[in-house]
Amino acid sequence: MERYSNKVQKIVYGGDYNPEQWPEEIWEEDMHLLKEANVDILTLNVFSWAALQPSEEEYNFSKLDKIMKMVKENGFQVCLATSTGAHPAWMAKKYPDILRTEFNGMKRKFGGRHNSCPNSPTYEKYSVRMAAKIAERYKDYDNIVAWHISNEFGGECYCENCEKAFRVWLKKKYKTIENLNYAWNTAFWGHTFYEWDEIVLPNLLSEHFEQNRSQFQGITVDYKRFNSESILKCYQREYEVLKSITPDIPITTNLMGFYKELDYKMWAKYMDVVSWDNYPSNQDTPAQIAMSHDLMRGVGGGKPFLLMEQTPSATNWQPYNALKRPGVMRLWSYQAVAHGSDSVMFFQMRRTVGACEKLHGAIIDHAGTNETRVFKEVKALGEELKTLGDQTLGSVTEAEAAVYFDWDNWWAIECSAGPSCDLKYKDEIYNYYQALYHLNVPLDIVAPEDDLSKYKLLIAPVLYMTKTGYDEKIRTFVENGGTFVTTFFSGIADEHDLIITGGYPGRLRDILGIWVEECDALPPQAENHFIYQGKQYPARLICDISHSEGAETLSVYEEDFYAQMPVITKNQFGKGHAYYIATRSSEEFYQHFLGNVCKECGIEGLLAPQEGLEVAMRENENGRFLFLLNHTDRMLQTELLEAGRGLLESKEYAAGDMAEIPAKGVQIIKLEKGQGEL
Ligand code: GLA
Ligand code: ZN
Repeated sequence: MERYSNKVQKIVYGGDYNPEQWPEEIWEEDMHLLKEANVDILTLNVFSWAALQPSEEEYNFSKLDKIMKMVKENGFQVCLATSTGAHPAWMAKKYPDILRTEFNGMKRKFGGRHNSCPNSPTYEKYSVRMAAKIAERYKDYDNIVAWHISNEFGGECYCENCEKAFRVWLKKKYKTIENLNYAWNTAFWGHTFYEWDEIVLPNLLSEHFEQNRSQFQGITVDYKRFNSESILKCYQREYEVLKSITPDIPITTNLMGFYKELDYKMWAKYMDVVSWDNYPSNQDTPAQIAMSHDLMRGVGGGKPFLLMEQTPSATNWQPYNALKRPGVMRLWSYQAVAHGSDSVMFFQMRRTVGACEKLHGAIIDHAGTNETRVFKEVKALGEELKTLGDQTLGSVTEAEAAVYFDWDNWWAIECSAGPSCDLKYKDEIYNYYQALYHLNVPLDIVAPEDDLSKYKLLIAPVLYMTKTGYDEKIRTFVENGGTFVTTFFSGIADEHDLIITGGYPGRLRDILGIWVEECDALPPQAENHFIYQGKQYPARLICDISHSEGAETLSVYEEDFYAQMPVITKNQFGKGHAYYIATRSSEEFYQHFLGNVCKECGIEGLLAPQEGLEVAMRENENGRFLFLLNHTDRMLQTELLEAGRGLLESKEYAAGDMAEIPAKGVQIIKLEKGQGEL
């Protein structure tokens, strides 16, 4: 597997550095402290647009010139941002088209960031011009490892320019107004459109009520696609100009994991390397963080990604900004690496003095010394990463299991009126993800276009939107011996969010060997039950009521008018099998069930499961790297199945030896190459 850049010889270590927020006397001090912290890469120029362009015709790069020079002289590599994540105040005053309009119709004034209308002609003109000027000016700096376009693209805009652009987008997609009327089922509630300019954006002024509920899902899902593509265009425009000037520097922008507004699978096609910002909330489990990393690897087609940002200690934007406990910053850094990251980077190098991020964690705190706990932890991890060198770079995850995830499906499920407002796509993905995570089964998160032939198991929770042709892909997969698992509320609609008539689960019916007749939504406290292999489990949220059409019934509901009707079915189809899980159950159930399914399809966990011990594997031409991550507060031990070398402690292990992983600690055991490669 290729590396994202031939300029890097190790896991790059560093992150966002904003010297422009400080007097120059501090810069020298920063250079010393950051070197001492073993930092080797600095992300520069993220929010400097206003500084670089004081007025419409005036550009001033003198400060950035100094910073670039100093950083290079001090031997740092650079991830150079284009600064277009927040427009200057003068621009907003002079050209209000750059300001966004909110979901509720409110036109914004200047303020905040990530705030430019994606269809603003002003934004287009000046963002591209800025990217070009920066690329031209700094193209000969051989320490630029990557371009960082804008920052955390996101949000939505409902302004008039976006409305006009939406109509153009629709015309391109549907060609005729008749096609559009059909796709949106506008005969409902007398919505038939005769002219394109009768169409308005779906928001609180038109089709929406409450936050996410739409009265016309077809319109809303199309708007979501349009908005994601509009913002992507902003990225692409800068991408093109950077590429034309510096064809050899990889280009990225920092994504945000499970971020609903942007279809990252589409975005990743235009990124030389995927990068993302990992900011879990206090409530997130290690499995949830792992799932986000796997998604980011998945959108990039399995290639290594970059951890662009994480906080070394606290965030500032949560209701309760807990500190990362001693060891956790290191543990989560290695967790990112275990799931495919080739970098460990932070926001930020030095903590600022004013505005909302003055209380956000940084390597150099307000005390300005190397005496802090955080500084010492950062320095120690930097030391370790140096000793790891380039061994793990470019390594990939070999998975036999895949979990399907699709943004269109996410949008469609969650703007649906019915069956339950509590049905959240990501939660259902997590139920299945978590079970495989606990079983130590590596998995890939795949999208509709991804090849399935290398997998033995495909799990597609709540496959509500079955896009044309995807059923065929599943059919081929199962016919050839694959195992397919899907759940309630699947096979319901096509890519226009129009119901596939003739009985649920629509085009999946023959594969699953069932017919779903009705769908019952259970209020929060209500439960039905079922027995699976002698154990009783809860049925919650949604209970599909189905009939077998050839599938074997493995469990039935115990209560209500649909008692004795199937909850779990298994259908033999070609050489493979297809399971339907008609309800939401408990964590224990998912582990029990998927444990059996994995056994049946010959998928083994990397090591014996143990509560709190995360196990992951990456491999490249140097060998296989077994990551053991202890998320508990006590020492754990695990038996190794193969001989290997502990890289962080320089220790040799024989097969059968016990490896010790200290509380919140990590082991990376390098194993011999896979058998196929010997
Ligand atoms: C994001 C941004 C950074 C910073 C951090 C704070 O990830 O990209 O500029 O605001 O959040 O957590
Ligand atoms: Zn707009």
